[in-house]
Amino acid sequence: AATVRQAAPQRPLIAVSHRGAAGHAPENTLAGLDAARRLGARTVEIDVQRTKDGALVLLHDAGLARTTDVEEVFPNRSSRLVADYTLAEVRRLDAGSWFSSAFRGERVPTLGQALDRLETLGLNLFLEIKEPARHPGIEEDVARELRGRPAWLREGPASEPRRLVVQSFDWEVVRSSKRVLPSVPHGLLGRVPEDRLAEFTWAQMINPNHTTVDAAYIDLLHEHGYETMPYTLNTRAAMDTVLRSGADGFITDYPDAGLRAIRDF
Ligand code: G3P
Ligand code: CA
Repeated sequence: AATVRQAAPQRPLIAVSHRGAAGHAPENTLAGLDAARRLGARTVEIDVQRTKDGALVLLHDAGLARTTDVEEVFPNRSSRLVADYTLAEVRRLDAGSWFSSAFRGERVPTLGQALDRLETLGLNLFLEIKEPARHPGIEEDVARELRGRPAWLREGPASEPRRLVVQSFDWEVVRSSKRVLPSVPHGLLGRVPEDRLAEFTWAQMINPNHTTVDAAYIDLLHEHGYETMPYTLNTRAAMDTVLRSGADGFITDYPDAGLRAIRDF
């Protein structure tokens, strides 16, 4: 039989605001963090990657083309990968106009800028280490940044939402991040097969795609001591289903709608 850990403490249900607040503002921008706060979110999710010169920046895709004007600003460059641009180059890009002209001039923020803004806004953070295979050792850079801001390393009371969760689809990188940030709760993204749930006792969360889970699987996660907040739920029906299945919350582009679903649950 699998090793069963102590059940996770009961924290309030939360709607984690995805990529800042991706339904309302350009993803992974400071404007998105502001929008999340305005919409009532307590926790946001963002993606972190690394530039050519080693700066940590918020970006979801490996490349800059979808969410910035990189093709206009650097028409002759053969690569669009963020890992092939310096921070100074990335900072020249407009990361808002693709979403709406109202956000023209919004920049790709550094992780440091995002942490400053989150501190000002009083928001908690789910930090996803994105595309780590393209950025070897990025988890150590993330740890260094966070160690310079020790308030992020201190867990609040068990009755409150988590202050910080570091997560990735790359479970080896999550393991390695946990080694360098042992006091910080960590999460695995994706569905961990039932027969492997006893392997990851150092992780505090498992956050799968919501379409891959049901009440029985969520019960199993809880029995193994993991919390779970599936991603990315953008309809009321999906939110109601995952709440009824016993999830500890969920990730959504629409935190305002998420909060309503939780209030009515
Ligand atoms: O937090 C989980 C979710 O963000 C994973 O999907 O593609 O939006 O990073 P993605
Ligand atoms: Ca993400």
